[in-house]
Amino acid sequence: MKQIVVLTGAGISAESGLKTFRDADGLWEGHDVMEVASPQGFARNPELVLEFYNQRRRQLLKVTPNAGHKALVQLEEKFKVDIITQNVDNLHEQAGSGNVLHLHGELFKVRSTADENHVLTWKKDLVLGDFDENGHQLRPHIVWFGEMVPMLEPAIEIVAQADIVIIIGTSMQVYPAASLVNYAKLGTPIYLIDPKPNVNENDFESLTIIAKTATIGVPSLVMQLIDH
Ligand code: OAD
Repeated sequence: MKQIVVLTGAGISAESGLKTFRDADGLWEGHDVMEVASPQGFARNPELVLEFYNQRRRQLLKVTPNAGHKALVQLEEKFKVDIITQNVDNLHEQAGSGNVLHLHGELFKVRSTADENHVLTWKKDLVLGDFDENGHQLRPHIVWFGEMVPMLEPAIEIVAQADIVIIIGTSMQVYPAASLVNYAKLGTPIYLIDPKPNVNENDFESLTIIAKTATIGVPSLVMQLIDH
């Protein structure tokens, strides 16, 4: 069975109602990304950062997967599919995708500030004073700017196995996530679905750009790959 590796970013969830990071105003829901997604931001104003992710968590409880997420599930009928997402939402899992690796963490998880391996499932608000069993403050289980990306190595191994790579809705500006595609074997067909692509077809060997939104572009590519 051929293996398809799908690299997704905020764009695949945009049509479910979740804002992307680099919208026209350069802000994420009104905040500078460094203010709400860095250890320095958390040290400076933990209440603001916790409340920011509380809002994201509440919003995630209200949204549902779109036709893009759902089409990727259909791919599993014919291919071994691995999704590597930069998204902290769980819309791929809600849609029913089997193998989802979260490079940047998950909104519905929190972890101890004293032990990064102490991770808990958490769907409600998180506030100062929410401690782990040993009395240490809990924080969002999100990879912030400047922090290690523990899932990077497994992600690289998966990309290196791919027969086909599909990239959906990412500005390819945040490293190391943006460099993952470089680990695909030479000559691997790469498809990029993004209405405003940040790369052009000469940037990678065997790259096809589909300048459409996820709900249009993904179902049509999936149909093409299944029928091929
Ligand atoms: P960005 O906000 O940087 O890019 C979103 C991409 O989605 C852009 O290229 C848009 O053109 C595209 N897009 C918008 N609407 C779309 C639609 N309906 N269908 C398909 N594509 C669409 O988001 P990411 O590249 O995911 O990290 O951002 C990478 C990381 O930066 C995030 O994981 C986050 C952020 O800081 C952390 O939180 C750690």
